[in-house]
Amino acid sequence: MHYSVQVCNKIYWIGVNDRRKRLFENIWPLERGVSYNSYLVVDEKTALIDTIDNVASGNYVERIEQLLNGRPLDYLIINHMEPDHSGEVKSIVDHFKGVKLVGNTKTFKIIEAYWGIAENLFEADDCSILDLGYHKLKFLMTPWVHWPETMMTYDITDQVLFSGDAFGAFGALEGGVFDDELDPVYFEDEARRYYSNIVGKYSNMVQKAFTKLEGIPVRTIAPTHGPVWRSNPSIIMDWYNRWSHFEAAKGAVIIYASMYGNTEDIADYLARKLCENGVRSIRIFDVSKTHISYLISEIWKFNGLVLGSCAYNSQMFPLMEQLTRELLHIGLKNKHLALFGSYSWNGGGVKNLAKFAEESGLSLAAEPVEIYGKPTPQKLLPFDTLAKSLAKSILE
Ligand code: FEO
Repeated sequence: MHYSVQVCNKIYWIGVNDRRKRLFENIWPLERGVSYNSYLVVDEKTALIDTIDNVASGNYVERIEQLLNGRPLDYLIINHMEPDHSGEVKSIVDHFKGVKLVGNTKTFKIIEAYWGIAENLFEADDCSILDLGYHKLKFLMTPWVHWPETMMTYDITDQVLFSGDAFGAFGALEGGVFDDELDPVYFEDEARRYYSNIVGKYSNMVQKAFTKLEGIPVRTIAPTHGPVWRSNPSIIMDWYNRWSHFEAAKGAVIIYASMYGNTEDIADYLARKLCENGVRSIRIFDVSKTHISYLISEIWKFNGLVLGSCAYNSQMFPLMEQLTRELLHIGLKNKHLALFGSYSWNGGGVKNLAKFAEESGLSLAAEPVEIYGKPTPQKLLPFDTLAKSLAKSILE
């Protein structure tokens, strides 16, 4: 990276884009890359807010030195210890002698566990103020958004919220750093995929963070991933607010597991019947083809969810099992659920999908339907009823 960008008076974005890493957290595909945003405050005192992943460090330290122009770095504020942001903490401590680390008790525990650092610490809490001169920083403890030690930093002077993972998005920054320099709509899918897969499990803690932000004027949101929101921060705040409440558009996501096409045929038939019953947003996915992170993001988008599985060794299909396990782990809520499948021996797919439904607490919009052998017009008739009930639930 060869540039830094001024965010406001005395504050600079010094993030990096990572287009090389294939899997975020070694699990989530990064087809459009990701940015690790880091910020430098060059005031009477100087402070670095979060670092970057060390796989993308490049000339990071030199860029900081250039902006400091011979001055020392006084503080390193660590809002979040996940290594995509704390990757350069050790090199900053080694390079900028005397820099004080700002975090909370939980941050310090992880810092010691990672690098054995246990001194030159400034412990922040909800009442602390760090006076840098022009900028006065306060801290908001926001645990579990997305690790237990997570906090946010708020600049009282220019009303900038350094929000960490909250309000972040997958997707590298392609020239534009600010929301008014790029097309925010381009980021919506990747923001939702980031939210639903990384932060969604902690939606109730996101809501608690929103409560904490009530009454705090925010002019700019500076997250650790994705665009810096200086013109319309309400866009990303509205998205996160909606997603953390599991609010979804009227529509259906049909995800099927099919070895030889019978369950797939049912998915197509069901989609047609949903359409005939007035549902206009319908997406169909083959669980074997689309990465689970995209499936989860689509599930988050719509209020109807249809899961179909063939039987596989008297169980559901393994990749469908993985999806349902992940949905249980996330604690998915507020979906109208329907289940279907087919079998050639003695079943097992739909039976185990029904177990998932019970465990998840999601309400079934209709009785599950399972077909023996190949679907025929006669065998498909129960899907007319299923589609009618599901469409009614989705559209009401
Ligand atoms: Fe972007 Fe939880 O780290």
